[in-house]
Amino acid sequence: MQVNITLKQVVDNSYDITIDKLKPIHFDTKVAIVTNPKIAGLHLSYLLSKVTAKELYIITVPDGEEYKNQDSINMILESLFNHKFNRKSMLIAFGGGVIGDMTGFAASIYQRGISFTQIPTTLLSQVDASVGGKTGMNNSYGKNLIGAFHQPKAVLIDPYFLTTLAAREFGAGVAEIVKMAVTFNKDFFVFLETADLSNKDVLQDVIKQAVQTKASVVAQDEKENGIRAALNYGHTFGHVIENETKYKKYLHGEAVAIGMVLANDTAVKMGLMSEAEALKVKSLLNKYSLPTSYDIKDSNSFYETFFLDKKSSDSSITFILPVGIGGVKITDACEKSLVLSVLDTFGAK
Ligand code: GLY
Repeated sequence: MQVNITLKQVVDNSYDITIDKLKPIHFDTKVAIVTNPKIAGLHLSYLLSKVTAKELYIITVPDGEEYKNQDSINMILESLFNHKFNRKSMLIAFGGGVIGDMTGFAASIYQRGISFTQIPTTLLSQVDASVGGKTGMNNSYGKNLIGAFHQPKAVLIDPYFLTTLAAREFGAGVAEIVKMAVTFNKDFFVFLETADLSNKDVLQDVIKQAVQTKASVVAQDEKENGIRAALNYGHTFGHVIENETKYKKYLHGEAVAIGMVLANDTAVKMGLMSEAEALKVKSLLNKYSLPTSYDIKDSNSFYETFFLDKKSSDSSITFILPVGIGGVKITDACEKSLVLSVLDTFGAK
């Protein structure tokens, strides 16, 4: 005997991403702004001059990747229960990628899912993390290993928040912009080579181009069954570097920058990218003081750590390699010896 559940309905999770000065917005429901003390100190009064709601609460969680954990999620959920949030209530993620991911995850599980809005305050979260509905938290096994795809209702990107961003944090965001250009958009890459990101109009345009690229990839492959994995260019290597340096030495975007250089070296060895193209990417990363070298002490151990990556299986590692500038290949057919030779040479540089 069989009972069939037909679940093939099309669910429209589409949403708008606005890149502009925040406009006044009123929510006729209970709203909780989830943020951290640092962002609250810098920007909460500005946000509260724009956002109103039937009932408005502020939930602060400690600042930092080390707090992207179950305790912080529990803190958010506890507050929602205390204030009797219901299925119509709304969360606002107000901060960088950590806040965005945790708020989205809390929204995805509270009463089996409530709405949330992203108001990202770092360059990295504006161009990448806030778009596409990846939410989650870390645990002792690794980063983002617990989570859900839960799309926001809207993403409101106000470049004003970037005026207080530290230079290193800004560079880390640029790394993700370069990632998008190298893998999907050669014209964008060429534009970036001479763009002056200290000019606010240019910066706004660059954010728009990066978000358009990301949005078009997510629209094709929301749950990362294919092409969306290409957005992990630089991350396969970068995650190992973050892991080896215990997430302390490099910001995520900085580790991704080194990871992109490693991916490029691999691509050059495989004949997918020319040396000249690899050099152009490196020069662009250097322009933003991003690190492009790393001392690999033990290539074999570095290689073994690839297997912790979510894209890897027990026996194969998935690499995201550029094809020239503006193209990308997702492959699990890289010879181990070739990758090891890249790692060996890189360590010697
Ligand atoms: N940050 C990569 C992605 O959202 O797929």
